[in-house]
Amino acid sequence: MKVIVTAGPTREFLDPVRFLSNPSSGKMGFAVAAAAAQRGHDVTLIAGPVSLKTPRAVKRKDVVSAREMLQALEDELAAAQGSEETVWVISVAAVADWRPKTCADSKLKKSRMKGTLELVRNPDILKTLSLKRIKNLKLAGFAAETGNLLAEAMRKCREKRLSFIVANDVTESGAGFGVDTNKASIVFPDGISIHYPVMSKRSLARRIILQAEKL
Ligand code: CTP
Repeated sequence: MKVIVTAGPTREFLDPVRFLSNPSSGKMGFAVAAAAAQRGHDVTLIAGPVSLKTPRAVKRKDVVSAREMLQALEDELAAAQGSEETVWVISVAAVADWRPKTCADSKLKKSRMKGTLELVRNPDILKTLSLKRIKNLKLAGFAAETGNLLAEAMRKCREKRLSFIVANDVTESGAGFGVDTNKASIVFPDGISIHYPVMSKRSLARRIILQAEKL
């Protein structure tokens, strides 16, 4: 199968030297891309700004903003159209939900800036793809939560029409941004979930790919 993985944060600039973002390291997404390639799949990794090496046998496209990430996915899906092969989009990226309404061409001087920043919503990448109803396309997401883990994961799974969502509580020890381990559950739209103990992101990534292969 073809596997397109998104990873890392997005950056939403308000001028050439300032942006809104989040602490995603990209490690989980890169591990998923590596695991898919090890299983022999055709893998494209769409990465936000991260400092990680491209896994072996993985094609990589670097992007900065959420809108660029969506465009890169749409380009990949257009290129895959017409094939009978199953295409998975596994969205591990921590996509910024909002961006500054405007991005100045030159550095904003602090003396001229107001104390508030006007924001506009970014596209929901998974939801946008699900609404296209592309044949052979399957979607999977990640939900990093700080409470109400399973209920929130299930809501997102249904709203974004995902085949499954990987849910993790970033406040738990052994899980969260930047570390090499994760403690997660895979939640399916029918309410069934599989709970995993703390394990390396590499091991979790392999389990995720094995689940995708079964669907
Ligand atoms: N996601 C996306 N586009 C966005 C935001 C998130 O495709 N603009 C994807 C993420 O890559 C992830 C899943 O949706 O796979 C869940 O992301 P999360 O940030 O947990 O959910 P949100 O939809 O942003 O919901 P909320 O802000 O209510 O937690």
